[in-house]
Amino acid sequence: MARLSFHEALGVLGIGDLHPGGAEASSFLLDEVAKEQPRLVLEVGAGIGRTTSRMRSRGWEVVSLEPNAVLRQRFAAQHAAGAQAESLEAFAGAPGSFDAAIAESVLYGMCLPDVFATLHRLVRPNGLVAMVDLVWTREADPAVAARIHDETRATYGIPMASRERLTWTDWQMILRQAGFVPVAERRLEKGARAVGRLGWAAAVRHPVAVATLLRYRFLTRRVAVPPGWVESWMSVWRRVS
Ligand SMILES: C[S@@+](CC[C@H](N)C(=O)[O-])C[C@H]1O[C@@H](n2cnc3c(N)ncnc32)[C@H](O)[C@@H]1O
Repeated sequence: MARLSFHEALGVLGIGDLHPGGAEASSFLLDEVAKEQPRLVLEVGAGIGRTTSRMRSRGWEVVSLEPNAVLRQRFAAQHAAGAQAESLEAFAGAPGSFDAAIAESVLYGMCLPDVFATLHRLVRPNGLVAMVDLVWTREADPAVAARIHDETRATYGIPMASRERLTWTDWQMILRQAGFVPVAERRLEKGARAVGRLGWAAAVRHPVAVATLLRYRFLTRRVAVPPGWVESWMSVWRRVS
């Protein structure tokens, strides 16, 4: 069996909400999106489907994209309809077909101008895009940021933050250039919990995933990100043009 990456091991163990702020951040984003009474929402990088469930329980129709096969399998255990295997880049949704899109800790790994151009095409005029991501601050050294990206990607199978040292101001500028205006944005408090807890039943059923997770948790202590170099932002944007 191929070695599980960090987020795959978490997924196998049923641990979702692999984004800064966890369930509370999701609530913030979904409460903002709910004000628009959406009918159809696109979820990019749905993981094992925690937020898909939250949106469906609000009565929204959701199209969930999850290119990772391990996570998609776990997603299918909870959601009969399953998630679609396409990446956002490969997704051929009809222009303007979504009332909103949400991506929790997904976009930071992608080319932001391209991502926001794609979301601008998929979301209808006045539709919303909601996201939460870890971003660099101006304190961060660009060369070290790139190295941390490469090292965490090689070690965990998923990078910790963007390779380019993009700050929240950079994200805001790129979003505005893509034709979005802010509806709500909030920086997460330091120490906001990201990842859920491991249940005993899952641990007993999946010992290999537990061993993988423990190894990654040990390695995590060796990733030294200087204080003040990263911060996390939740935000909701409206397509205006
Ligand atoms: C850190 S995980 C977050 C998963 C989920 N949103 C959550 O909060 O638990 C990032 C997710 O984005 C997915 N992903 C990565 N690149 C993607 C892309 N280009 N298009 C769609 N999903 C992508 C990964 O497979 C992974 O499930």
